[in-house]
Amino acid sequence: MFSIFNRAASAQMKAFSRKASTQAGSASNISNKGAAIAASISGLSAALYSYQFGVFDEAFASGLEEGLHAPHFPWSHNGYLDSFDHNSIRRGYQVYREVCSSCHSLDRIAWRNLVAVSHTSDEARAMAEEVEYTDGPNDQGESFQRPGKLADYMPAPYPNEEASRAANGGALPPDLSLMVKARHGGADYIMALLTGYQDPPAGISVAEGMNFNPYFPGGQIAMGRVLFDGLVEYDDGTPATTTQMAKDVSTFLSWASEPEHDDRKKMGMQAVIVLSAMTAISLYVKRLKWSPIKTRKLVYNPPK
Ligand code: HEC
Repeated sequence: MFSIFNRAASAQMKAFSRKASTQAGSASNISNKGAAIAASISGLSAALYSYQFGVFDEAFASGLEEGLHAPHFPWSHNGYLDSFDHNSIRRGYQVYREVCSSCHSLDRIAWRNLVAVSHTSDEARAMAEEVEYTDGPNDQGESFQRPGKLADYMPAPYPNEEASRAANGGALPPDLSLMVKARHGGADYIMALLTGYQDPPAGISVAEGMNFNPYFPGGQIAMGRVLFDGLVEYDDGTPATTTQMAKDVSTFLSWASEPEHDDRKKMGMQAVIVLSAMTAISLYVKRLKWSPIKTRKLVYNPPK
């Protein structure tokens, strides 16, 4: 949309400058003078606009540069008073663990964060203990390996950025902790991205090792389609279709980027209730205290 507007703006600019230059020859024609000035002003503003937003080039061949705008999905946590669907967070964690975590880290989430959100503390501790963490130094000054505990953060798939790029054909799978906040459209974008893989339309060639996805800016993403029907087996028996997994992992990532979400809405509601009660009380007290003053009658009896 943006590119269409830019193209329209520069086309308009060209039309106006052409008009202005032909009319410059007949400058004596007074009725055309005003039009010429108006044209130059709008030409100038179009130029300023293009300058401001840096769009003099007309290389916008398609809408793909910006990526397709993700549709709005009816997330169950969208409303002012709606909490996250915690069953969905739990399933989403499973999708992250079994699918995404082989490439993407989740640095800002610790095992303890899952407790009372999607898992019991025993479950979270058991999952943490399956992972070996490097700790130390011990009495001899050496690092040692120990099983994870609740306070440990989620393990990253690669030791550093170079290793993750090397394993992914040069592309870096970004950390997913704040991904929902980092992208325009948030969870809608993640959902659209994960379910948006398709064959490239005629006339669009996709580079070696890249995949066509219209929701990714540029239309080509280094991450291939990762979700396929039946890929995971949910312990609550929910059928693991591609869209179900995409929805669950998007909900999980929404929670990961905003773990305070439920408390925030609850406290917001409490604040509204308390503050409106206090407002009502103070209005009442104000009226009470002022009523003798406001209803008094001043009578002036001039001396006879
Ligand atoms: C095989 C490795 C691999 C797996 C598995 C994987 N990804 Fe990715 N992912 C990547 C790579 C590589 C990129 C970087 C793509 C690029 O920059 O072109 C990426 C990018 C992303 C992005 C960022 C897109 C953007 O706008 O920058 C998101 C979001 C994402 N992945 C989500 C997921 C989710 C959710 C899962 C699990 C369902 C997942 N990925 C599984 C490799 C993977």
